[in-house]
Amino acid sequence: MHLNITQPDDLHLHVREDAMMSLAISHTARVFARAIIMPNLATPIISTEAALAYRANILLAIPKDSNFIPLMTIYLTDNTPPSEVEKIKSNQHIHAIKYYPAGATTNSDSGVTNLSKTYKILEQMEKHDVPLLVHGEVTDSDIDIFDREKIFIERHLNVLINDFPSLRIVFEHITTKEAVDFVNESSKNIGATITAHHLLLNRSHMLVGGIKPHLYCLPVLKRETHRTALLEAATSANPKFFLGTDSAPHTIKKKESACGCAGIYTAHAALELYAEIFEQENALDKLEGFASQFGADFYNLPHNSRKITLEKSPQTIPATFPVENDAIYPFRAGESVAWRVSQ
Ligand code: DOR
Ligand code: ZN
Repeated sequence: MHLNITQPDDLHLHVREDAMMSLAISHTARVFARAIIMPNLATPIISTEAALAYRANILLAIPKDSNFIPLMTIYLTDNTPPSEVEKIKSNQHIHAIKYYPAGATTNSDSGVTNLSKTYKILEQMEKHDVPLLVHGEVTDSDIDIFDREKIFIERHLNVLINDFPSLRIVFEHITTKEAVDFVNESSKNIGATITAHHLLLNRSHMLVGGIKPHLYCLPVLKRETHRTALLEAATSANPKFFLGTDSAPHTIKKKESACGCAGIYTAHAALELYAEIFEQENALDKLEGFASQFGADFYNLPHNSRKITLEKSPQTIPATFPVENDAIYPFRAGESVAWRVSQ
């Protein structure tokens, strides 16, 4: 079985730096034409200048035969000047600003402590139509980790869309039925990315039969009813839902630790994993919209002109990908993925 589709885009990707970046970029550029690059480096990308310098490093890591284009973002802090928005607007390489609640996830310590501190810049973003990408989880210590997305919608997203009704927002890596409902019920300027891992797994996969550190990510995997809601959203052909892998490499040392990092690495087989999901849902005809059209439309980008071919032919995923003195443990390590991209 073959599937010929427009070359896809990954609207949420972590590529890190140095050796890890080379690996992540080569895996993504093998299939995807463009990716929205997350700015949460150890030293976060908090300005247009920093984003352009980061972009220059990424360009050096792109394989020669690839047409891959990195779409850069900036990390929002309590102190990001509102004037940054006009700088972004006049630069063709920067596409959005990412909002991490301080302390919510990897390298988010410089994130926003209180949304009210960013209202001046949000006003500018709304005026100049620069999208806000949201890591939608509260960080309050009294809120259970499985409820953090749901409470974020109730306490913060509802306020945000009320105060900035024209602001374009991507609710990133949604994991709950509540998030699906919120996006469905909101105006057309609210979109959402959905990862392959949240479509494939529920929290039991991570915790039953022994804890699986390589399946730990944020927002954390949820119960099966939520996964079902995500499957329905992704295969609904509603253009508000589009592909964003949140592929997030960490070394094995950092994952298999007394305090393991959050992040699942899927870049080596991302589109193939989504194809498995869409096939299981009898929705292969909906994959192209989700993977190659709706995200581009949301970001006002043209559709890619190249086509790629997915083939129903199993491939075995390597046990590890070496990186310097350590390695990355890929999703499905040593196991099979039912599809491959044959170009
Ligand atoms: O699992 C995650 N990993 N979730 C995030 O929000 C960040 C990411 C990372 O950068 O490692
Ligand atoms: Zn992410």
